[in-house]
Amino acid sequence: VINYIKQQINNFIFQICFYFGNGLHLEVLNARNGNTLLPKHRHLVRQKRAWITAPVALREGEDLSKRNPIAKIHSDVAEERGLKITYKYTGKGITEPPFGVFVFNKDTGELNVTKILDREETPSFLLIGYALDEKGNNLEKPLELRIKVLDINDNEPVFTQDVFAGSIEELSAADTLVMKISATDADEPNTLNSKISYRIVSQEPTYPPVFYLNKDTGEIYTTSFTLDREVN
Ligand SMILES: *[C@@H]1O[C@H](CO)[C@@H](O)[C@H](O)[C@H]1NC(C)=O
Repeated sequence: VINYIKQQINNFIFQICFYFGNGLHLEVLNARNGNTLLPKHRHLVRQKRAWITAPVALREGEDLSKRNPIAKIHSDVAEERGLKITYKYTGKGITEPPFGVFVFNKDTGELNVTKILDREETPSFLLIGYALDEKGNNLEKPLELRIKVLDINDNEPVFTQDVFAGSIEELSAADTLVMKISATDADEPNTLNSKISYRIVSQEPTYPPVFYLNKDTGEIYTTSFTLDREVN
């Protein structure tokens, strides 16, 4: 068992060294918990900073300027060889629309966010970071930087129709399905922010209630009240 564990640890070390020996490194600053993959294993990684590849998470609808710079790429190769280096980022938010969401410093590799983000407009960004030599050639393998925009509950549910019309025969049994109403919500799917709950605000005649509704599905059913077309 001990040998097995040792072997696993060796594999782990090998993978880290392999990864860190190649390409650009990414440092995410002011990262939230869970964003930093490797601080525990820093000693394995040549005492370098905690480089990560996990997505950077930025909340929509918020002034993010205090978190700048949100990320930074850095080439150890350039540093070790004392080369003049220029950093560059491409991708959505920089070289593709929406433009101007991010800006970077070509000397330091720092990346800033300049706008308040809207998840419903752009749920994520994929940037590529480059380290270029004086001739503009890649000094290292370009690196992918993913930025995930975190949802806030900033959208109200909207009914899919202005009016829903239903009909039901008189003398129908209790719990007969009359109709189904539906709405959508633009917040992140399958989260509480986009979960919809339905409610009957009023009905006529008021009492006794003739209809009830399933709050999760929007289905409207008859109660045990006996419907009589000649009355209503
Ligand atoms: C990024 O933000 C930091 C902190 O506000 C600032 O010092 C730096 O100049 C900004 N860099 C760019 C390229 O805008």
